[in-house]
Amino acid sequence: MCGIVGYNGSSNCFPFLISGLKSLEYRGYDSAGVAILRDDVVHLVKTQGKLDNLREAFRQAPLEGVVGIGHTRWATHGEPNDINAHPHKFGRVTVVHNGIIENYRELKETLRDRGHHFTSGTDTEIIAHLVEDALEAGSAPLEAIWSTIGQIRGTWGIAILIDGYPSTLWCAKNGSPLILGQSPGESMVASDIPALLAYTREMIFLEDGDVAQLDGPDIRIWSAPQTPVTRPPQTIQWNPIMAEKGGYKHFMLKEIFEQPRSVADTIGERLHADTHTVTFDDFSFVPDRFDRIFLVACGTSYYAALIGKYLIEAMARMPVEVDMGSEFRYRDPLITERDLLITISQSGETADTLAALSLAKSRGATALGIVNVLGSAIARKSDHTIYTHAGPEIGVASTKAFSAQVSVLILLAIHMGIATQRLSGQDLADVVDALVRLPKQINELLAQSAQINVIARRYAHSPAFLFIGRGINYPVALEGALKLKEISYVHAEGYPAGEMKHGPIALIDEELPVLAVATESNITEKMISNIEEVKSRRGKVIAIATQGDVHMGSIADDLFLVPRTHPLLQPVLTVIPLQLFAYYTADIKGTDIDQPRNLAKSVTVE
Ligand code: M6R
Repeated sequence: MCGIVGYNGSSNCFPFLISGLKSLEYRGYDSAGVAILRDDVVHLVKTQGKLDNLREAFRQAPLEGVVGIGHTRWATHGEPNDINAHPHKFGRVTVVHNGIIENYRELKETLRDRGHHFTSGTDTEIIAHLVEDALEAGSAPLEAIWSTIGQIRGTWGIAILIDGYPSTLWCAKNGSPLILGQSPGESMVASDIPALLAYTREMIFLEDGDVAQLDGPDIRIWSAPQTPVTRPPQTIQWNPIMAEKGGYKHFMLKEIFEQPRSVADTIGERLHADTHTVTFDDFSFVPDRFDRIFLVACGTSYYAALIGKYLIEAMARMPVEVDMGSEFRYRDPLITERDLLITISQSGETADTLAALSLAKSRGATALGIVNVLGSAIARKSDHTIYTHAGPEIGVASTKAFSAQVSVLILLAIHMGIATQRLSGQDLADVVDALVRLPKQINELLAQSAQINVIARRYAHSPAFLFIGRGINYPVALEGALKLKEISYVHAEGYPAGEMKHGPIALIDEELPVLAVATESNITEKMISNIEEVKSRRGKVIAIATQGDVHMGSIADDLFLVPRTHPLLQPVLTVIPLQLFAYYTADIKGTDIDQPRNLAKSVTVE
């Protein structure tokens, strides 16, 4: 879960390294560092904490050079301090690494016995030692790197510089993403697309097992020792502005406000409103082929998966199981070649979701990935991919990716419902019409964001919150609670409203506000009873209800109304006030909204 960058060209590399690291800071921000080649020798500047600390350290000891690498860290092995910050240098070899070297302890022991001295507590340092060891034994750099790769186990995205080789940068990939870019006179490498966007839209996605050598603008790639390979560049549609804050105080707020566009782009040309059909470029559902559907994901994407169950079961009448990646992978699931596994992931890199995918594939299941990041591991390893067109999501708290995932799941449920012949006629027309209206309704809803700000201020100092919902809005309650806890550090719990009497109602008093997602449905009355039960125990209720609801205003202490839509489409609207509520609460508290403590955007370790 770290970000790496590298540059090899004719300009001073520090501006590229620092701007690339800035855009990768979402991957970790425990420490940062750069290494720059100058006069045949690699020089290091690295510090604990965020990039501002690195900038300051660099200001005090500036370095110029045209070849360099950089790293922003989410600590896995070794505490986040200056020593453990990357890059790591041993002998002539300097390395930055994203991933985990699982067998680093054994390798360290062997090297220690041979007199190697280790300075950090990281797993990464072993790479520099192994490469140096092979160089010492007379190998050329490329050979030394292949020899190192032959000895390590685990995951890596690596960039390496070697003293005495002033115009070459090497990199290698296995399990962690690594993308190469090329523009006139220069080449670069990064863990993710946004780091390269200001320089090029043509990007090469390295495959697991690849090693690449960058000499100025020249890139050579090998898939195994002595096995050169060509990886054609792909054109990225994202533009650099999409990865900037664009005048918003935080990326999260910008991304919340981008949802009308990202939902519209995701629905895009897949929905044929005139013929009431849905098609995908890379997937077509054949009902007789599958007995069951498994939806697997983590975090916010898991809550989207829970919504997917309601959607697919309602529209296609197919049985759906939902699991978190971390549970699925270890529970020996009963999945066979007659099943369809759908993984959902913004990053396409989440370790547990990836492991679930590999497990399902090993049992013969067909794998469909719903992914935001082009060319990511889940996209590459799935049999079929449907991309969410949310654009780059930088805020660690997922917002626009969630609504885009739910939009894909709505499209998929319609597509499957048509295929199973369980959705047709007026029912089909109603859901299609509602889907067409959705982006405009999100816009209307966002225009009232100030109301949520006022409500958030009223409750900002509450020590804890309960979020409740029923049916398809129950996962929305879970998502609202997750958003609040991850960015405001306030305890929040999501619960199905119908379960309150089985325990949580004991918590209710005037100190515990309850956010009730209570939009119109066939069980609105049940939801109203649950709200009444909270009220009669002096609980405070903030209700999210449907425009035109005349009842809710008289029961709830605070009310926010969302436009009326098809009941199955409500999550795309009801989640937005909850995202805003979490955002404004965190803003009042002054937390680090885009980079909350202890978190990273892509969870590439289990
Ligand atoms: O990239 P993914 O969608 O696979 O990520 C899954 C979770 O790590 C992610 O949704 C996480 O829960 C977010 N921080 C939630 O806002």
